[in-house]
Amino acid sequence: MDIMATEGTCVPIVVTVFETAEELDHAAAQWMAERIKAPNPVIGLATGNTPIGMYAHLVAMHKAGKLDFGQCRTFNLDEYVGVLPEADNSFTAYMREHLFDHVNIDPARVHIPRGDALDPEEEARRYEELLNQHGPITAQVLGIGSNAHIGFNEPGTPFERRTHVTRLAEETRKANAAEFGSWENVPEEAITVGIANILESQEVLIMAKGASKAEAVRLTVEEQPTPDVPASALQMHSSVEMFVDREAASRLRADSIVHRR
Ligand code: F6R
Repeated sequence: MDIMATEGTCVPIVVTVFETAEELDHAAAQWMAERIKAPNPVIGLATGNTPIGMYAHLVAMHKAGKLDFGQCRTFNLDEYVGVLPEADNSFTAYMREHLFDHVNIDPARVHIPRGDALDPEEEARRYEELLNQHGPITAQVLGIGSNAHIGFNEPGTPFERRTHVTRLAEETRKANAAEFGSWENVPEEAITVGIANILESQEVLIMAKGASKAEAVRLTVEEQPTPDVPASALQMHSSVEMFVDREAASRLRADSIVHRR
């Protein structure tokens, strides 16, 4: 399959604008469910506020007997350095709360970087090897930071970067303050898959909700790709869908929007 656009060429990101966040969540869950039902699904997962509604729909589909996670392997994008998997503010805890504890996924097929690894650089290498062993990711879901980060690839990260230890932007730490009491308590570092890993996924769904994402969405979709806008790298992938609500779409030109629902 030709996943990457020919070097130097950009492919317009297919943007769908939803009237409400609830409609977006439902469509995102449908998108994901189709990929989970495909043979040998290797699903890339995101945390954060944006996908919570999508996960709720996936859980409901499973409980209604319509979605089997038995063959599914998952790779999360990232984890904070220094956070134990058992801690309430870990991405492991998030994934258990919103998905894993409610569906029939095999724990041996669930992969999240170990934030508590003694040597985070070594853990990044281990995670990269796991991805290479089981990849490619067949379907990757992403949120987007208000600074356009994807995973925890902050502005300035080269598009060639693979799994690595990253220093979180202050803006990112502030956006994630709620889980840590105050932004100063948010870890300064995280382990994240790189943009190169994300670009190797067969298909990508990126979601954005709310006015705070509107400028990041515009830069991602309408401007030339640059490492200053990490999500703009997705223009170099030939199979990317973006689902946005009206607020997140508010700065897009009308001709950037492919579907309205
Ligand atoms: C989460 C992740 C981040 C978030 C982004 C948006 O695993 O990698 O890129 O997707 O920070 O977060 P929310 O959805 O909370 O606005």
